[in-house]
Amino acid sequence: MPDPQSDAVHMGWDPGDGLDALKVPLFQTSTFVFESSEAAERLFSIVYGGEKPGPGEDVGFIYTRMDHPNLVISESRLAAWDGAGAALLFSSGISAIFTTFLTHLRPGDLILHGAPLYGGTNTMLQKVLAPLGFQIGSFGPEASQEEIEEMVDDRRLGAVYLETPANPSNDVFDIGLASRVARASATSEHRPLTIVDNTFLGPYAQRPLDHGADLVLYSATKFLGGHDDLVAGVATGSRDLIEPMKTMRYRIGTTGDPHTAWLLARSLETYPLRVERQTANARVVSDFLVAHPKVERVRYLGAVEDDERVAELAKRQWSSSGSMICFDVSGGKAAAFAFLDAMRLVANATSLGGTRSIACHPWTTTHSNVDVETRQSVGINDSMIRLSVGVEAPEDIVADLDQALARV
Ligand SMILES: Cc1ncc(COP(=O)(O)O)c(C=O)c1O
Repeated sequence: MPDPQSDAVHMGWDPGDGLDALKVPLFQTSTFVFESSEAAERLFSIVYGGEKPGPGEDVGFIYTRMDHPNLVISESRLAAWDGAGAALLFSSGISAIFTTFLTHLRPGDLILHGAPLYGGTNTMLQKVLAPLGFQIGSFGPEASQEEIEEMVDDRRLGAVYLETPANPSNDVFDIGLASRVARASATSEHRPLTIVDNTFLGPYAQRPLDHGADLVLYSATKFLGGHDDLVAGVATGSRDLIEPMKTMRYRIGTTGDPHTAWLLARSLETYPLRVERQTANARVVSDFLVAHPKVERVRYLGAVEDDERVAELAKRQWSSSGSMICFDVSGGKAAAFAFLDAMRLVANATSLGGTRSIACHPWTTTHSNVDVETRQSVGINDSMIRLSVGVEAPEDIVADLDQALARV
């Protein structure tokens, strides 16, 4: 089987499929013409009626909310990257997460999640899923298997949900441990899932399915898209778990659109190149920040030797340290604001993973909708800066951070 780096360039498109175009065309259409009414009836009997296509039967397209060619192409490349049986593209990272819960869990189920989480995910759990009857519990990165299992008690565990590394702090969780918790709560009728949001490291550096995860989720808005010009989400996993999510996706309309799918398939061709450059840049930036007198507590996956638990996970769970850095500026919120407002090359914006370096103040932006107690308990404070290192020349990024820190 070719390396995913080759698959990401070739997969899903044969020039013979469309006027010999070398590159994937954009199928910007909302609907597809049926060969005949009989063919339409057959298609609907497969999609709505659940009939299985016959051997070699070409299941065409019906309507773009259900499926479309650009989806199929980008999804084949995404599945290759994660070594997954199948992948699905969604309209956003949040809609990928929501569709996953709605498909595989039911009200009353317990969702046990690692904390911290991206603020938007936390809000969805607390403000949307909890009122619908889901039970929500959380644990920190150092919780043991026994401690997490005790939280389940006699409730029906729907899923153990991890973001690792977590947004914004780069806290890391043991995927194998989470999957052992999920397996320990399985019954003959019900199997809890281990779901991992792999947005921060991406499939280049970490493949959660290899460590016991059942489903992997991404905000493809970040490293997979990589240019800050699209919003999308992804789920990967076995065919058995992904198929019902595909049905849910068209039922609730969380499907990725053709243009986004086209942009994403194109972005995946350069994904490893971008990530390698960003990772090399992040090491230079992290070294600079560690040595700076106005910076405290730099959290970067390339510098974890002092923490035995994380150093062990680093050997086992990921192969490259990514380009997200979290650090505190001495002097609290005022100092953090002075720093951010003085940046020139690095943008003061939310989002991450793109070619452009971006920094933000999670306390007052991405995580401001998480209640103060929760923020404090998971180590988010008002001195904290989340930095996504881009592909610019490393000396220019460092020079910009240096002049901005001089204003603090
Ligand atoms: C880790 C993580 N998961 C999910 C999301 C949600 O993704 P989207 O903004 O594409 O809906 C984000 C967004 O920042 C994120 O950082």
